[in-house]
Amino acid sequence: MHDLLEVKDISKTFKAKAGDVTAVDNVNLSARKGEVTVIVGPSGSGKTTLLYLIGSLEEPDEGGIEVFGEDICLSGADLIQFRRKRVGFVFQFFNLITALTALENVTLPMDLADGSSRGQHERAVELLARMGIDGRLQKAKANKMSGGEKQRVAIARALANDPDIILADEPTGNLDTATGKVVVDILVELARRDGKCVIIVTHDESILEAADWAYHMQDGRLEGIDIKEGSSP
Ligand SMILES: Nc1ncnc2c1ncn2[C@@H]1O[C@H](COP(=O)(O)OP(=O)(O)O)[C@@H](O)[C@H]1O
Ligand SMILES: [Mg+2]
Repeated sequence: MHDLLEVKDISKTFKAKAGDVTAVDNVNLSARKGEVTVIVGPSGSGKTTLLYLIGSLEEPDEGGIEVFGEDICLSGADLIQFRRKRVGFVFQFFNLITALTALENVTLPMDLADGSSRGQHERAVELLARMGIDGRLQKAKANKMSGGEKQRVAIARALANDPDIILADEPTGNLDTATGKVVVDILVELARRDGKCVIIVTHDESILEAADWAYHMQDGRLEGIDIKEGSSP
């Protein structure tokens, strides 16, 4: 089963003065390459924490994650390489470097992963063009762009190092409905056409329409949702 990302019994508790919060409580989840997994849940249910655990931005207290047959219990240089090369993140507030151009935002992660090299510029131009960011817009500073443009630049950036996993945290949360739909369609295409393993977490239940697999999250616990009856294997 080497096309599976498997989350096995992971938990994460944050210690706080007001009391400990178990943000992720014994969660099991499988996500497949070429498919879109959507996790819906209210604010505070643990969605971001779960995504950060999958992306190795947080470390679980318990449990483990297997990525396409590889156990990821990484540290040091391996961890940094995993984050930079295997995973692309897309965020609600885009998290672009606003003083840099679209092109610079996309070449930066390539530079961080591999050092400067030939071909990065061309690859960034291609990725942005695929996201509909063309010509002069590629050289515009991110802070001059609309929300939809920023998110498309952010998706191009997530693809910079050709990761097999795309993790999107409320990717439509700061966009109007029509623009949000364009962004979701792009994420779906990355699964269908490029074979990426796409995981979206959101409070927006309308994104469930894009899901091959869906889960509901509440108080740190995850439960499968039955969708598209009969169409999933
Ligand atoms: N770094 C942290 N320190 C303390 N508590 C946290 C931290 N991150 C998240 N939490 C708490 O964990 C719970 C889940 O948060 P989060 O994963 O951000 O949920 P969601 O993304 O669904 O809104 C919340 O109660 C939140 O306050
Ligand atoms: Mg969140």
